[in-house]
Amino acid sequence: MVNISEQSDASLITRPAHVAIVMDGNGRWAKKRLMPRAAGHKAGVGALQKIIETASTADIECLTVFAFSSENWNRPKMEVSILMDLFVSSLNKYLPELIKAGVCLRFIGDRSAFSEKLISSLTEAEKRTRGNTGLKFNIAMNYGGRWDITHATKQLLLDVQSGSVSQDDINEDVFSRYLSLADLPAVDLFIRTGGEHRISNFLLWQCAYSELYFSDTLWPDFDGEHFLSALQCFSGRQRRFGRTGDQLEADIQPQQKA
Ligand code: FPP
Repeated sequence: MVNISEQSDASLITRPAHVAIVMDGNGRWAKKRLMPRAAGHKAGVGALQKIIETASTADIECLTVFAFSSENWNRPKMEVSILMDLFVSSLNKYLPELIKAGVCLRFIGDRSAFSEKLISSLTEAEKRTRGNTGLKFNIAMNYGGRWDITHATKQLLLDVQSGSVSQDDINEDVFSRYLSLADLPAVDLFIRTGGEHRISNFLLWQCAYSELYFSDTLWPDFDGEHFLSALQCFSGRQRRFGRTGDQLEADIQPQQKA
């Protein structure tokens, strides 16, 4: 068993600055209990609430979750509508608690397809938590990694056309400033629950060097202990960023590019 207070001790664990989660398995969780899929999504909100608490206690700087992908519009109309209602009602229900916990909320993705009611809930939640200094909690909604990269490209092109960026100056660093979450550290740990081993178009650029962690646990059953196990697994990984294991052990820093 992993103890949260021990886990919070920096000497015991190398903590990821940024954790991203694909919360998969709500539908199967409900099906196993002969319940409608909506019940699985509702239970999924409860699981998310616990993971936010655990991430805050474990001193994680940023948590980003995939709540609705660009492709999730392909689900039955009824399920999409239930999910949209759940987003509004959950935000209204949990916002006071999140504010109290010092969480800073941000939504990424194309919100233009959402109802006015949902858009105003998202805007209000961002406005009311903007100055908070606790966990940076990002929710991806109508988000796709390819959408993010395409959107960034269009924004960058506008700046090239206006002359504020020169084409010759474009490099990975400049490009990445146009992506969602550009001001946050790259994703260190990518977690997917529900037994599937896929990235599913989540944070493609931001996860380029993430450690991947797959859990068979269905999202509504994924609790603080499971999250801490993922953190512990992360702390045992050797992150080489292109270097050799020997270089790492000798603590040789990467050479500067000419
Ligand atoms: C994937 O499981 C889950 C989703 C598409 C929705 C996730 C949403 C929540 C947990 C609610 C979050 C709420 C807020 C306010 C952010 P699935 O339905 O694909 O499960 P399955 O693979 O078992 O069918």
